[in-house]
Amino acid sequence: MHDVQRQYAEMREVVNARIQRVLDHGQFIMGPEVAELEGRLAEFTGAPHAITCASGTEAMLIALMALDVKPGDEVVTTPFSFIATAEVIVLAGATPVFVDVEPDTCNIDPRKLAAALTARTRAIMPVSLYGQPADMDEINAVAERHGVPVIEDAAQSFGALYRGRRSGNLSTIGCTSFFPTKPLGCYGDGGAIFTGDAALAQAMREIRVHGQSKRYVHTRVGVGGVWTPSSARWCWPSWSASSGRSPTGRRRRRATLGCWSRSAGESGCRWCGATAPACGRSTR
Ligand SMILES: Cc1ncc(COP(=O)(O)O)c(C=O)c1O
Repeated sequence: MHDVQRQYAEMREVVNARIQRVLDHGQFIMGPEVAELEGRLAEFTGAPHAITCASGTEAMLIALMALDVKPGDEVVTTPFSFIATAEVIVLAGATPVFVDVEPDTCNIDPRKLAAALTARTRAIMPVSLYGQPADMDEINAVAERHGVPVIEDAAQSFGALYRGRRSGNLSTIGCTSFFPTKPLGCYGDGGAIFTGDAALAQAMREIRVHGQSKRYVHTRVGVGGVWTPSSARWCWPSWSASSGRSPTGRRRRRATLGCWSRSAGESGCRWCGATAPACGRSTR
């Protein structure tokens, strides 16, 4: 399904021109292309703040650091994901607490969440796997009752819709990945963090650049997590291709944005309410 060389061949000219522009102006760290892409990401997802960073893993680590997750804390997550999800919890010094998944979606089961929450729970981190958002409304409701924030690992679900809203913009913080094989891939690795909370956004912007609030003023501990424009610049044309302008893009978009027939039983798709075949997401 995924062929980076074929995709590059279809977009060679625009990709080359954009990378050449970065080489010409020489701003290899951050720079205007990164700022432009952050604007487009915010617009597309509807999230007030979109912050790019070095990878999806880095995005989740930055999110946990911004929420001040530390040793002794617990973060509730799913055992069925790429290792990065649990790994960042351990990197932050906290303990991952695993809650089983739903048999039909393979995403964390919101009905089992409450039993896993303790006084030490600092966050819930569901994963929207295989392009299908976790049941975020249910998860957010449990989180709200217990006063804990939710970080959606949307590394595999950028572009997916959940009840009319974009994955990544469904909870306190959303994190995605631009690893080449992801729904929106880049040449190399990259990631983005989405939030509607201005204070968290400011904290995450600082953490991504060594906790720097002003040039050489380091007000907190951070990471070297900035993104490079040579990969950012071509990233968006790739998504345009994914939106249906090329055969590869159309196939990729169908696969990415599809919800699964398993979700669309007789009562209709749990995300859009429609029954198959009206639900475009039940055709996968
Ligand atoms: C569910 C999930 N979370 C996180 C990541 C990490 O993203 P990255 O490879 O950009 O660090 C991945 C990447 O494979 C993933 O599939």
